[in-house]
Amino acid sequence: MHKSAYTKIWKRLQGRSAVVGVFGLGPTGLELARAAAEQGKFRVIGFDINARRIGMLAEGRSYLEHLPSESIAKLIKTELLIPTTDFARAKEVDVAIICVQTPLGRHHEPDLSFIVQAANSIAEYSRPGQLVILQSTTFPGTTREVLAPIFKTRGLTPGRDVFLAFSPERHDPGNSEYNTTNTPKVVGADDPTSLELVQGFFSLFVDKVVPVSSTDAAEAVKLTENKFRQVNISLINELKIIYTAMGIDIWEVIDAAQTKPFGYMPFYPSPGIGGHCIPVDPAYLAWKAREFGLPARFVALADEINMGMPDYVISRLAEAMDMRWSRGLKGASILVAGVAYKKNVNDYRESPALSLLRILKRRGTEAAYFDPFISELPLEDGSTLRSISWSPQAISGFDAVLIATDHDGVDYRALVENSRLVVDTRNACGRHGLSGANIVKA
Ligand SMILES: NC(=O)c1ccc[n+]([C@@H]2O[C@H](COP(=O)([O-])OP(=O)(O)OC[C@H]3O[C@@H](n4cnc5c(N)ncnc54)[C@H](O)[C@@H]3O)[C@@H](O)[C@H]2O)c1
Repeated sequence: MHKSAYTKIWKRLQGRSAVVGVFGLGPTGLELARAAAEQGKFRVIGFDINARRIGMLAEGRSYLEHLPSESIAKLIKTELLIPTTDFARAKEVDVAIICVQTPLGRHHEPDLSFIVQAANSIAEYSRPGQLVILQSTTFPGTTREVLAPIFKTRGLTPGRDVFLAFSPERHDPGNSEYNTTNTPKVVGADDPTSLELVQGFFSLFVDKVVPVSSTDAAEAVKLTENKFRQVNISLINELKIIYTAMGIDIWEVIDAAQTKPFGYMPFYPSPGIGGHCIPVDPAYLAWKAREFGLPARFVALADEINMGMPDYVISRLAEAMDMRWSRGLKGASILVAGVAYKKNVNDYRESPALSLLRILKRRGTEAAYFDPFISELPLEDGSTLRSISWSPQAISGFDAVLIATDHDGVDYRALVENSRLVVDTRNACGRHGLSGANIVKA
């Protein structure tokens, strides 16, 4: 069985007659589907349980700021991308890639329910010879301990009837230099045939594929990359607090430090951490480490520092207002500029701006926001805010503007010229050559 199953799928991959199924068309799944269709020349069926998302895509409309609708529309028209909520079409698929979300549960534990649900819908229609790749970020052991049993219980033996692999996601939304094709792709499998297949598949549309010896190792690669970022961001945030107290500008220090051509890479301060990855993924590692009786101490410390940043930023804002007008935050009107978790994207998941707005509300301010990419923002308390329209008059009506995300394309000169006080957490003003007594770095 194994030899013929392998030969069959390998031939279909090489001849591009293989059908690729992407399960979960979030930012990562959609980008992968686009690359497999555009660069890989595969026909891709995109599955999602979100009918609204599928409806939009089927009409050729992208819901992502950095992925133009024209590119989606072209794929839909040529039927290289077929978005659907009909999971029975899973039986048409030769390569199934799981790109669903991996959030945290109520008690900060990994929530693998989306992976399990997607894997069940693949296994239900599975036939011998399918390659199934998990790409959602998760703890080491997930492919072996969670995915493989789902297929085994249906009589499909991994490595013989079905080929299982893990390949970490390295998507960086809005990055104009690196995309799926020119970012090296790590792949891992627990048997040589599955490894050969997953390596061969991605080699057809990714410039460089990096094999590792197991799915556990591949899962650990992703967590290592994200834990590295989480810890370094917290380090620079802590340094910001210390240097600010010393009267030293952290941004000037980073700019000078990064002139060292070796042994240093820059990380930048922020009002907290956001997005689907950095605040979440390290907790997956910490959870799994407990099974081995090991504490993930850096994860906990970095979390503590990063989660304290919104309070620190608000305390800098309150101090600046006290010093200028002898008035506290209560009753003040504050505009938060930029609420996406990072610049030039329309994603506000886990954005520190949500914490800033919560604290501002709690402190009795009238808080509003401006973001060119996000017209409506659901807050943590269940209410919804709408972005104000940009105009010098509108800006001048606020007591202070708090820059939380430094989107390009915002007229920072006009913002500074029309604001009574600008509290800048991203050095947006400095980067645009702006200075003035009304600017406070935080
Ligand atoms: N967004 C990023 O920049 C990024 C970067 C690196 C890694 N990742 C990781 O990639 C994974 C996906 O991230 P995302 O941001 O694309 O997630 P997302 O939550 O935006 O999208 C996931 C999609 O999967 C769909 N879905 C859920 N259950 C499903 C099922 N059973 N079948 C089919 N579709 C289903 C959801 O409706 C949603 O559209 C996560 O593990 C994340 O940590 C994300």
